[in-house]
Amino acid sequence: MCGIIGYTGDKEAYNILLEGLERLEYRGYDSAGIASIHNNTIQHHKKKGRVANLKLTVLPGKTGIAHTRWATHGKPEDKNAHPFVDETEEFAIVHNGIVENYLELKEELRNSGVFFSSDTDSEVIVHLIAKNYTGNLQEAVLKILPRLIGAYAFCVLKKDSNEIIGARNGSPLIIGLGKKENFLTSDVSAIIEHTHKVIYVNDFELVRITPFSVEVCDFNGTQKPLDIKEVNWNLEQAQKQGYKHFMLKEIYEQQQVFLDSLKVPVKIEKSFSRITIVACGTAYYAGLIGKYVIERIAKIPVNLEIASEFRYKEPLINKDDLVIAISQSGETADTLAAVRLAKQNGARTLGIINVINSTISREVDEVIYTRAGLETGVASTKAFMAQLVILYKLGFFLAGKEIDLTSLTEKITQALSLNEEIKQLAQQYYHYPNFLYIGRNLNYPLALEGALKLKEISYIHAEAYPAGELKHGPISLVSEEIPTIAICLQDSIYEKTLSNIQEIKARNGKVIALATEGDKQIKQIVDDIIYIPKVEEIFYPLIAIIPLPLFAYHVADIKDCDVDKPRNLAKSVTVE
Ligand code: F6R
Repeated sequence: MCGIIGYTGDKEAYNILLEGLERLEYRGYDSAGIASIHNNTIQHHKKKGRVANLKLTVLPGKTGIAHTRWATHGKPEDKNAHPFVDETEEFAIVHNGIVENYLELKEELRNSGVFFSSDTDSEVIVHLIAKNYTGNLQEAVLKILPRLIGAYAFCVLKKDSNEIIGARNGSPLIIGLGKKENFLTSDVSAIIEHTHKVIYVNDFELVRITPFSVEVCDFNGTQKPLDIKEVNWNLEQAQKQGYKHFMLKEIYEQQQVFLDSLKVPVKIEKSFSRITIVACGTAYYAGLIGKYVIERIAKIPVNLEIASEFRYKEPLINKDDLVIAISQSGETADTLAAVRLAKQNGARTLGIINVINSTISREVDEVIYTRAGLETGVASTKAFMAQLVILYKLGFFLAGKEIDLTSLTEKITQALSLNEEIKQLAQQYYHYPNFLYIGRNLNYPLALEGALKLKEISYIHAEAYPAGELKHGPISLVSEEIPTIAICLQDSIYEKTLSNIQEIKARNGKVIALATEGDKQIKQIVDDIIYIPKVEEIFYPLIAIIPLPLFAYHVADIKDCDVDKPRNLAKSVTVE
């Protein structure tokens, strides 16, 4: 949540920061701003809305910091946009995170005569630094850090210097190492054009960069060795490559992701009696499919928990438990907190994580990296596919069985070829303000994921239910006005789902079925149909997960929604 970037070097900072911000926009896009140093003064410019709004005002300077915001404290307005400067405009900061004790700090600073220009929590940081500065910026920052309660990654600069100081506690911060230039960023994608050499800053570390030097120390000021890593992403992964949206590109990349994921070795020590999966959103739905698969194939009980609930639950886990955290970003604050709690309780932790070296991947005992590559669209698609493949492999490994999924590759291609058909269907249905999604068994998590995709990118209200649950209440919603997307594949509960569809049809509800190729029976009942290729029952999610986001994508595109950056959302949810 919120993206920050800093540059100091021999080039003009403005374009580098702006391009970096555009890549960080997935982290929030409520406002954006830049500050740079020129002629020993801080130039700054910030605006409500997208990064593109900054383009008209070019700021000179070879050292600068920038921010793209996901609003937490204070509305998305110009005055609440970062960077923040102190009253004498000597220092500027950008911050990602939440200063939880900001009210108390604000009161104290106000009482000492400080004037606040925003409603944010972040602004206290710059005023605290100004108050504590006695000639050395690093010392001033070290002095104020113990006063900040909450999560943060922030960058600060001073008007007459080319140094940038950064500090991290809970939010991501990465150093990029260049030639006669260095960077600080929330995410590697923002600097990948300039360098592949990075240092992942840990919690409770402070960083000082100048064009020629990089230093890392702990919060007591003790110098630490530099742990330089090489990133193997490339720029193409961060570009749309002819697709209208990243989301569509990423849906199409699922076949490659599937193939890459098949190569991931999935072997863990089987020394546990129970599994608990913790995750949020789409990753949670992948976990739900994982639960079905592991329980069915390996006969091991799997408890599934939404990470934000688990963390406050006093969970009954101990050293005999394996806690699996699933996360694309590896930065989700709730999932990270769930991992920490699991560790405190003595459980063994395993991460199924996409972003290499992300915080969760570094904190878990073991990690299996998914091979989805860089996912930019805020709505997760290819990462979900990658998570599913790993969970299937894990289920089969735990059962001591071999699995060969390669034959599914061509079925995935077939499912992708449904794009045009689905687009037409979206034309027919995009104007409905409400949708129901139903499915039973393995198809229920798919219904949840389909509904989540539709609501998050097209702003259409969509609710998912286990099909058998409709009669316990939700069926009263059924009418001509609310179409139902029914996932009714030819599996062991096909007839049951079909009966549930009949119940909807008997009440004049429109039904679009996601059905198995060759199923003529269902065609006579439903209004519209999307056929997917037949596969073994347990593997249907790997195919069915292609048309569902495609439908959501086309509905959102027809409605002219900002598909890759839906309102109110951010890709990396680093606040509670
Ligand atoms: C939905 C979506 C979110 C994420 C959730 C967890 O399309 O992307 O629901 O799945 O915020 O994020 P990660 O996987 O990064 O922990």
